[in-house]
Amino acid sequence: MKTLRILANTGNSRILIGETLGNVLEYIPPGEAVIVTDTNVSNLYKNQFPPCEVIEIETGEGIKTLDTVRDIYGRLVEMEVDRSSFIIGIGGGIVCDITGFAASTFLRGLEFGFVSTTLLSQVDASVGGKNGVNFDGYKNMVGVFNQPQFVLCDLDLLKTLPEREILCGLGEVAKHAFLGDARLFTYLEEHHEQAVALDPEVIERLVYDSVVLKADIVNRDEKEKGERRKLNFGHTFGHALEIQTDFNHGEAVSVGMMIAGFLSAGKGYLGMKDVERIGRLLGNLHLPTRPPVEPEGILRALRKDKKRKGNNIHFVLLREIGNFVLLREIGTAVVEEISLDELEVELNAFYAWDRSRH
Ligand SMILES: NC(=O)c1ccc[n+]([C@@H]2O[C@H](COP(=O)([O-])OP(=O)(O)OC[C@H]3O[C@@H](n4cnc5c(N)ncnc54)[C@H](O)[C@@H]3O)[C@@H](O)[C@H]2O)c1
Ligand SMILES: [Zn+2]
Repeated sequence: MKTLRILANTGNSRILIGETLGNVLEYIPPGEAVIVTDTNVSNLYKNQFPPCEVIEIETGEGIKTLDTVRDIYGRLVEMEVDRSSFIIGIGGGIVCDITGFAASTFLRGLEFGFVSTTLLSQVDASVGGKNGVNFDGYKNMVGVFNQPQFVLCDLDLLKTLPEREILCGLGEVAKHAFLGDARLFTYLEEHHEQAVALDPEVIERLVYDSVVLKADIVNRDEKEKGERRKLNFGHTFGHALEIQTDFNHGEAVSVGMMIAGFLSAGKGYLGMKDVERIGRLLGNLHLPTRPPVEPEGILRALRKDKKRKGNNIHFVLLREIGNFVLLREIGTAVVEEISLDELEVELNAFYAWDRSRH
């Protein structure tokens, strides 16, 4: 087992990689604890849950709403939970986001921790203290920054994940590699088959290296004033594609990173050889690299992006493939405003380039 720490203004957090769900009580102060989980995780793993009250929520992005938080508050009231109670979220990113928000707000804040059960949540969602829900169709519109006491990443639980969910998590690992860890990039290139097959040693390394990078950024910019924004690499196009296609988050971000890589090359930051290398790795991780909709579809969604500022949108661009040095700003990425008109030109160029390769 490996342990990492986040030391942030809103609290400290311990990330335990390779610890098992069965040991979770060791990390909780004595007293009452309540588990929040979803129906899938409960069906698969409730026999390993510690003896606590359990609140089960449904699954899917559609339930990440204030209504679900309200239901959780209702159950906590029924259970006569008080300020000394501890809340444990056991699940993927959706359970962790909702649990963290409900726990942070109920009775002005209860202590909470996560057992993270999806690869995406282990490498990304459960780490960093962003807890929130969607509102009025907008993603993660309402929420708080607040660190869980612990995040337990039980790698054995990943064995029951559908393959599409594993690939989604690997997409975020690749993002961390592109942004800040050239060694991780090479490791992924050499071990992509083992990664897809969930080889325990390879997965442990990927989760650990990802959390090292994310924890380091969060330690320096918890509230996303500057550097943490770079973790959104590929996500502006990704969110547009998520809206316009059947892609899940990881698939959409994979294509988004490809377009953002191309854009970085257009700006003269990245060589086209690097863009090809990014595409090859994503393809080897069984992730898509081609948008299934025409440029106009993407542009339409970008025009509605809540982060749009007038005619401009902030983009994370890569200057080179991750040569990040810990405790130093990510030297390899920049955040720049790009106008929608320029984007239209670049997107058309991307589609032409993409067609010429296939
Ligand atoms: N807070 C953050 O910083 C942050 C960062 C990235 C993503 N997110 C959020 O995370 C969410 C996505 O997280 P996710 O991909 O983990 O999705 P998820 O929580 O929906 O889990 C995916 C599916 O896998 C099931 N599942 C969970 N664990 C399982 C297991 N061990 N075996 C079999 N099935 C299992 C779930 O029931 C669900 O159906 C999004 O809402 C996104 O906004 C948050
Ligand atoms: Zn993401």
